[in-house]
Amino acid sequence: MADASLIAKLFSLEGQVAVVTGGTGVLGGAMARGLAQAGARVGILGRRREQAEAVAAEITAAGGVAMALPADVLDQSQLETASRAVLQNWGQLDILVNAAGGNLAAATISPDKTFFDLPIEAFRQVFDLNLLGTVLPTQVFGAAMTKAAAGEQPKGCVINISSMGAIRVISRVVGYSAAKAAIDNFTRWLAVELAQKYGSGLRVNAIAPGFFVGDQNRALLLNPDGTLTARGQTIISHTPAGRFGTPDELLGALIWLCSPGASFVNGVVVPVDGGFAITSGV
Ligand SMILES: NC(=O)c1ccc[n+]([C@@H]2O[C@H](COP(=O)([O-])OP(=O)(O)OC[C@H]3O[C@@H](n4cnc5c(N)ncnc54)[C@H](OP(=O)(O)O)[C@@H]3O)[C@@H](O)[C@H]2O)c1
Repeated sequence: MADASLIAKLFSLEGQVAVVTGGTGVLGGAMARGLAQAGARVGILGRRREQAEAVAAEITAAGGVAMALPADVLDQSQLETASRAVLQNWGQLDILVNAAGGNLAAATISPDKTFFDLPIEAFRQVFDLNLLGTVLPTQVFGAAMTKAAAGEQPKGCVINISSMGAIRVISRVVGYSAAKAAIDNFTRWLAVELAQKYGSGLRVNAIAPGFFVGDQNRALLLNPDGTLTARGQTIISHTPAGRFGTPDELLGALIWLCSPGASFVNGVVVPVDGGFAITSGV
């Protein structure tokens, strides 16, 4: 017999507090709205204060609870200020989504250039943004998850955002791919570390999106008139679903991984990619 209330409880985030880095962006913004719809209070973290406030206002207008957390993911003191704001206002922190990141134009090898032309500083910047921009917020916000009330076990969940570039070779974006591969490894490493040191209430998982049109990759995928670039066309040809993903298609995996329904799921990287990763092309 169906038990709708059991299933609703399994996937509810009611009473939880989430922070989404990159909540000012296309995928992070959709994930922040989705977490709020599942019942969580959500902090929207990004460098653009006005955009963070706009996303928070949109969530609030729709009946949710949200606040803007203007901060750079590579700036520890800004992250600590954001963490204090969350704890002072909401008293707890249960979910961290590390969605800040993306490719940088200077770190993309253009068709007329080779790996040997790549400015190492651009490689370093994109690597730092994606890897350190995941590790540092996890240190700052994750620390709050380890502190349980007397008599309770620590609980919380970290969701990292990986990429197809971590597991398949995606031409031109070597630094981005290296950083996302490191995020997969960090996800597994931290899953073990936190479970062993703090118990099974602390979990770390990742989502590996296939191709979605975000601000950081729009110019690589679409021409100014909205038609596909040659690279965009190659991607679609290699995606069995035959299209890019839409940001809300990340929500099922996200809410499942954050919810009590995934209480025994730890250290996995879930592809949400329309089948891109498993296609040989033949
Ligand atoms: N779109 C895709 O197809 C795709 C596929 C796989 C993985 N991903 C990953 O998904 C995540 C979101 O990408 P997206 O496509 O939604 O791109 P987007 O719209 O450009 O969003 C990128 C976000 O990162 C934030 N960000 C960048 N540098 C930051 C910094 N130093 N400090 C704080 N926030 C920073 C931006 O916020 P501010 O500008 O306000 O700082 C923005 O919110 C990224 O990690 C990306 O690598 C995307």
